[in-house]
Amino acid sequence: MLTLEVDLGERRYPIHVGADLLGRPDLLAGVLGGPQVLVVTNDTVGPLYLDRLRPALGNRKVEVMSIPDGEAHKTFDTWYGLLDRLVERRFSRDCTVVALGGGVVGDIAGFAAASYQRGVTFVQIPTTLLAQVDSSVGGKTAINHPLGKNLIGAFHQPACVIADIATLDTLGERELAAGFAEVVKYGAVCDRDFFDWLEANADAILARDRDALARTVHWSCAIKARVVAADEREAGERALLNFGHTFGHAIEAGLGFGTWLHGEAVAAGMCIAADLCVRTGLASAEEAQRLRALLARARLPTSAPARLGPERMRELMALDKKVRAGRIRLVLMRGLGSGLVSDDYDQGALDATLHECRDAA
Ligand code: NAD
Ligand code: GLY
Repeated sequence: MLTLEVDLGERRYPIHVGADLLGRPDLLAGVLGGPQVLVVTNDTVGPLYLDRLRPALGNRKVEVMSIPDGEAHKTFDTWYGLLDRLVERRFSRDCTVVALGGGVVGDIAGFAAASYQRGVTFVQIPTTLLAQVDSSVGGKTAINHPLGKNLIGAFHQPACVIADIATLDTLGERELAAGFAEVVKYGAVCDRDFFDWLEANADAILARDRDALARTVHWSCAIKARVVAADEREAGERALLNFGHTFGHAIEAGLGFGTWLHGEAVAAGMCIAADLCVRTGLASAEEAQRLRALLARARLPTSAPARLGPERMRELMALDKKVRAGRIRLVLMRGLGSGLVSDDYDQGALDATLHECRDAA
């Protein structure tokens, strides 16, 4: 097992990465608050992993809430259902909410933990590659609004993250690939050495080689932990972690939440952003091609669906959280390994990108 830390002063917390960690009580000792624990999971993950987790919770009063599976359920109603359960069962302020699942479970459970009695202890046990490398770390919690992605939420840091690589054995191919997209993101805008390493090791990662997966999760979390420690509330550098997301969120909302997985939309979004970077002279055509090729090895989409034309994309992008004074700020890459946030890009180039980076009708 490898452990790293998100250094947020008195709110610092560990991220444990390794195989077969779920049932270990030592990892939760000193983390859980009072005796009441609400484990939030979903109809897919619960039957697979709840029994493995139980020994880690000892003799606490454990309540389990299983929510329906999928992005389409990352809604106000699901979040409210969690709060109902906490109130009905008289959970007190020293309770702990544990998220056992992918990013959807983590985001909703985290938002419930952030809002119940103005914030209770929260533990992330991510079971998808995407959640292990990204959503479980950093304290962003959210639900979707029908018109836009993650528009309602809060910052609420977990007390501990346990990334059990063994849970990835049961993950579908499509979900594994979606997580790989967020991994590639770190290489593309934060760390060129990581991008090079991913090119060399993509086959092993996608074949679920345990060592390759552990290195991938650890390296990704190390990058994210550094960025979050420097900019917890996204006043600056943290926005780089949204590379591909403005386009990606527009695709997710435009198609209806759950049609494409979040990571799939981010993969296409990164390729669209890279195309804009080439048109505006920030990156070379060869670098954009390397990014597309790496994502394509995981069979991820590299362009937007045909039916989302430039006008509709712009409309959807206008709801992005990075919009300031009506201007859409985009994360762009200045060559591979380095990112920047800008609202000062050529609008004609953006139109050309949105027009070109679409599947054939
Ligand atoms: P997800 O939670 O929907 O999980 C994908 C699928 O895998 C689901 O069907 C789930 O039930 C299943 N699953 C989960 N673990 C499994 C396992 N071990 N074995 C078999 N099946 C398993 O999707 P995701 O890709 O994990 O997360 C996407 C969500 O994360 C999006 O809502 C996105 O907005 C959010 N996100 C949040 C942040 C953040 O910082 N908070 C960052 C990135 C993404
Ligand atoms: N996924 C982007 C962030 O956590 O900031």
